[in-house]
Amino acid sequence: MRQKNLRIIDNISDLKKEIEKLQGSIGLVPTMGALHLGHQSLIEKSVQQNDNTVVSIFVNPIQFGINEDLDKYPRKLEKDCELCKQQGVDIVFAPRIEEMYKSDKNNITLICPPVNAVDKLCGKSRPGHFDGVCTVVAKLFNLTKANKAYFGQKDAQQLFIIQKMVKDLDFNIEIVPCPIVREQDGLALSSRNQYLSKNDRILALNIQKALKTAISLAKKGINDKRTILDSCLEILSDLDVDYIEFVDKNTFETVDLIDKNTLLLIAAKTPQTKTRLIDNSLLH
Ligand code: PAF
Repeated sequence: MRQKNLRIIDNISDLKKEIEKLQGSIGLVPTMGALHLGHQSLIEKSVQQNDNTVVSIFVNPIQFGINEDLDKYPRKLEKDCELCKQQGVDIVFAPRIEEMYKSDKNNITLICPPVNAVDKLCGKSRPGHFDGVCTVVAKLFNLTKANKAYFGQKDAQQLFIIQKMVKDLDFNIEIVPCPIVREQDGLALSSRNQYLSKNDRILALNIQKALKTAISLAKKGINDKRTILDSCLEILSDLDVDYIEFVDKNTFETVDLIDKNTLLLIAAKTPQTKTRLIDNSLLH
């Protein structure tokens, strides 16, 4: 592992100075911290593909709804910085809220994705969420002047919306999608997994089980959404399903007939700790 002199920066003015000093390409890994192996895989890819890697660690308040987990979201800056150091990251940018949002929440310019991209899936159950995500991500793109930015495919709608924002607003950056990283038993890694009770952790596996069942039905040639949906819902019956949707991976439009472009996305809350988990898979 290539260890470098990690700079930990908490303000925009120092970040700009450090970015000016960098030579060669810059990779950005935007995160909200509590880094796990999923983040590590993004960081590894950035370190491999770029001369410099910047990891941002910022629990972005404007992407959380009023009844969501902003206050309890895990914060582990010291441990995160240690991991970044081991991975050969150059800069950790971990700003305070007032540094990122100088005005109050209701007085900042937001980047709002189009309604048809946010009126479904996570955007439907988390109104305003993607405005917050796009706004912070656009700021990070501008501040770091990154050439590439790395996003996990677990947040598939987020990835789609950010790719669209980059295209629509002509950001000069390449978005690099990175595969979902899973625990050995199949649970998709998430900073929120640490909220799970023992029983929730067992039930959470049903999400991956439902995805696998859907894949095997699709592989058997079943292309009718209703049949696959019913099998999945049965497997998910102990969870509080927020959505289970079939979309075209290229347009994120809902589909009725399953084909090789169909992406199945699931969001569900666990019964005890009410942890909201998401996962997805292509059905091919
Ligand atoms: O995926 C996340 O962790 C966040 O939504 C992101 C992209 C870091 C923006 O706050």
